[in-house]
Amino acid sequence: MTVKTVGVIGCGLMGHGIAQVAAVSGHEVTVLEADSGALEKGLGRIKKSLAKLVSKEKLSQGDADASFGRIKGTGNLEDLKDCDLVVEAIVENLDVKNDLFGKLGKLCKPSTIFASNTSSFSIGAMGTASGRPGNMVGLHFFNPVQLMKLVEVVRADETTDESFAAAKAFGEACGKVPVSAKDSPGFVVNRLLVPYLAEAVRMVERGDATPADVDAGMTLGCGHPMGPFTLLDYVGLDTTLFILEGWASEHPNENLFEVPALLRQKVDEGKLGRKTGEGFFKWEGDKRA
Ligand code: 3HC
Repeated sequence: MTVKTVGVIGCGLMGHGIAQVAAVSGHEVTVLEADSGALEKGLGRIKKSLAKLVSKEKLSQGDADASFGRIKGTGNLEDLKDCDLVVEAIVENLDVKNDLFGKLGKLCKPSTIFASNTSSFSIGAMGTASGRPGNMVGLHFFNPVQLMKLVEVVRADETTDESFAAAKAFGEACGKVPVSAKDSPGFVVNRLLVPYLAEAVRMVERGDATPADVDAGMTLGCGHPMGPFTLLDYVGLDTTLFILEGWASEHPNENLFEVPALLRQKVDEGKLGRKTGEGFFKWEGDKRA
């Protein structure tokens, strides 16, 4: 099956990027946001990102306009019922996601593939909730979706070969390099990345080095585009804390998943990173102050 029509649920940090790359690659996209203000904000972000790509000569003005024209915003779940693929990119709450996939399972045409952009929950659980476990896959994109080349395509035990192949082909059509991953905590990237970010925080807690020095170490010593503290601020300290807390409660004997007190403290103080103007560093818009 070739995916032509895509529903994206959630037009936030990840959802707007997924909708954009799907539209730029020629798919008809319907983006769902229950809140009309959030929908407007998300569509505004897509416009801004397309304009940036035009200014950098990565996209022509005509292609940007045509891509934006392929995106339709809605507040009504019913509008997704005929989509070939529905990608969920809402809040990381398994009950809310399961509830959503339960509704989609009753609403969508039988061939619709269901995908979650979750970074931490079981794809199999959502497949069960949908009532169509064979149609369920993980499609985990990376932030910023418009620039990052990877998509993890996650296969649960009951995912059919057809669903998996169609999801992988969709990722490729969006200009991404797909890697296949099992339905295990963190898949490939976050399983390595999140413990690394946590250890960087522990290093600062112990007084071994400052955030600026750790970042300089990893950018200049390892060639990473961002050091762990800039990346924590970029991804959101609350997101990383949420992932770690989930894993820590499921695997209490795994030291790698221990939650650093400093990370929790920053989140309690509302210092969530770039989006609140301060995390480990101060931010002015998208740039480090
Ligand atoms: N759309 C269009 N343009 C964008 C953009 C977007 N969404 N986001 C940034 N840009 C633009 C910037 O405004 C900047 O423009 P400027 O040069 O005019 O200021 C330009 O792209 C950046 O171009 P650069 O040549 O400077 O790019 P960099 O080499 O700095 O790359 C980066 C930027 C790709 C973000 C790079 O720093 C990077 O790879 N960082 C690491 C990001 C990363 O690790 N992401 C994964 C996070 S983990 C995750 O997402 C998983 C989750 O589950 C937690």
